[in-house]
Amino acid sequence: MAVLPEDEPLSIPLLLAAKGQERIAMMTAYDAPSAALLDAAGIDVLLVGDSAEMTVYGEPNTLTATMDAMVRHTRAVSRATRRAVVVGDMPFLSYQAGVEKAVENAGRFLAEGGAAAVKVEGGRRILPAVEAILAADIPVMGHVGLTPQSYRKFGGFKVQGREAESARAIADDAKALAEAGCFALVLECVPDSLAAEITREVPIPTIGIGAGAACDGQVLVFHDVMGFTRGHRPKFVRRYADLATVIEQAARAFTHDVKSGAYPSREESFSGTKPPLRRVHSKSPSPCGRGA
Ligand code: KIV
Repeated sequence: MAVLPEDEPLSIPLLLAAKGQERIAMMTAYDAPSAALLDAAGIDVLLVGDSAEMTVYGEPNTLTATMDAMVRHTRAVSRATRRAVVVGDMPFLSYQAGVEKAVENAGRFLAEGGAAAVKVEGGRRILPAVEAILAADIPVMGHVGLTPQSYRKFGGFKVQGREAESARAIADDAKALAEAGCFALVLECVPDSLAAEITREVPIPTIGIGAGAACDGQVLVFHDVMGFTRGHRPKFVRRYADLATVIEQAARAFTHDVKSGAYPSREESFSGTKPPLRRVHSKSPSPCGRGA
């Protein structure tokens, strides 16, 4: 049964009501034009992920993300979004270093970034921050399993919860976050059996990434889905487009046309009979159509 309307803005209560009724589609977005396309295509949740550090800025991990950059990306995504719930990803050390700072930083995602909620990585050890953010009426999405901000501790981007003890710890973290009042949980790179167990046991939607099919929803990174980047592709990624080839071919064609003189044509040029005699200052729009 469809719980999430196709043509009305979604909300946190609607996402909660979708548990067990309708699967949630979530994708990362970092800028206004791609957010507008994803929103129009029916993606339910746009996550402004700190994965922007890797996908947009070419960093090897997410640890370099800053509050200012994340809020700026969130604002761009929010401005272009009509239906989806926009979630801002709190960067490394923006919520781990003190509860007051955590609330202040979370608030920036809503007040300046226009987000509906924030996402934080970690379980019981970050509960004081989660509780304080929730007490400020800021909805929180949790994230357990492979939490990329802890990749140094894990020794790399590795599947978590394969052994009984670590699986228990992840399940306990998930339950603690749900009991604290998080509205959804990302389960990243955990065995599908563990994700299924957590999905059964928590009353909030689980959104999987490399966590199997039993989750209440799925999230992938925009650049992976669209085939924007080449190189290593994690096992769980399904590529739905080959933007890398499309962009490379377009860039080659443009380069060819510039070098051969085929671009621009007369139709792509401005005509004028007389050169201007003197510079005039005008407030009229630029003839190039992109503003003065
Ligand atoms: O930053 C991100 O893109 C994420 C997703 C992988 C869930 O946290």
